[in-house]
Amino acid sequence: MTHPRSTIDGVGSYLPGRIVTNAELAMTLDTSDSWIRERTGITQRHIAAAHETATFMGAEAARRALDAAGAGPDAVDAIIVATTTPDQAFPATAVAIQGALGVTSGFAFDVSAACSGFVYGLSIADAMIRAGQCRGVLVIGTEIYSRILDWQDRGTCVLFGDGAGAVFIRANDHNADRGVISTHIHADGRYGDILYVDGATGQTDKSQHLVMNGREVFRHAVAKLAGAVDEALAANHLTHSDIDWLVPHQANRRIIDAMGKRLNLRPDQVVITVDRHANTSAASIPLALDEAVRDGRIKPGHLVLIEALGGGLTWGSALIRF
Ligand code: UT7
Repeated sequence: MTHPRSTIDGVGSYLPGRIVTNAELAMTLDTSDSWIRERTGITQRHIAAAHETATFMGAEAARRALDAAGAGPDAVDAIIVATTTPDQAFPATAVAIQGALGVTSGFAFDVSAACSGFVYGLSIADAMIRAGQCRGVLVIGTEIYSRILDWQDRGTCVLFGDGAGAVFIRANDHNADRGVISTHIHADGRYGDILYVDGATGQTDKSQHLVMNGREVFRHAVAKLAGAVDEALAANHLTHSDIDWLVPHQANRRIIDAMGKRLNLRPDQVVITVDRHANTSAASIPLALDEAVRDGRIKPGHLVLIEALGGGLTWGSALIRF
């Protein structure tokens, strides 16, 4: 029996209307535009208004992905949402988005893998499609980190933004050349204390703010992402020169540049949005994919490598032929 391939047929995204520049943050915080730019590459971030919840933004991104694929709600039989900032503990954000889209059948669930959530979601969707469990899957990353930041902590609050991105994936029985080629996901709970949210429903006495040891996370990111991209290429007997585009998780320009160099890619083969979006966690890769597909950089036939590392630690990579 041959297994269907998971092809990305549509990409969509949503960014809140409100833009907050580095200069605006520097008015209330002991920081500066030049520090943020030089250390991270970030110049601004989008911050959600009250109505722009994780569900609202995720549903908007999903609608745009379905439109791009020329598909309606009846084509969707599974929704996987990567988020660590859901509106409610339950129902899952995926089920809320299912309701918002008017999808009335199939299944929907959330994945919690912090900034690696989209790679995890894609990996699960691909495995379920190959197994024949579903044929039209929305994988959505939607995050509202502005609600879990300590806005007095300059070491973290300048780094993140809000937004959502989505892909619509169809099972493809005929064209084995296109689609998700492989995914590789990892976790190592020994490093849970270098990037986490302090408390939640079970620990309401805690601050419920994001805490990060930036230097340690940086160190792990460079090493583990290098391993994840090497693993993706080796598993498929491919080399650096086969890659058309790197679409990395957008945490820090310096990490992204290090990965591009390691892969011997020209700077114009690396999709960058961190300058305008900051770090939108699980939403950052589909947001960047949407930008590069819509502006015509990523074309049918191109080989795209995605990679991410986040709290957990969790990390992973995927190779996709568009
Ligand atoms: O998406 C999940 C994965 N996350 C990441 O991959 C993030 C990885 N880490 C990073 O991107 C970087 O470590 C940061 C951008 C978070 C920090 O950059 P850094 O070059 O590692 O700076 P640092 O933390 O070593 O801090 C250097 C200095 C410190 O001052 P002292 O101790 O040298 O006097 C900080 O207090 O910069 C200070 N600092 C700031 N100064 C102005 C920290 N934040 C700020 C700020 N404005 N916003």
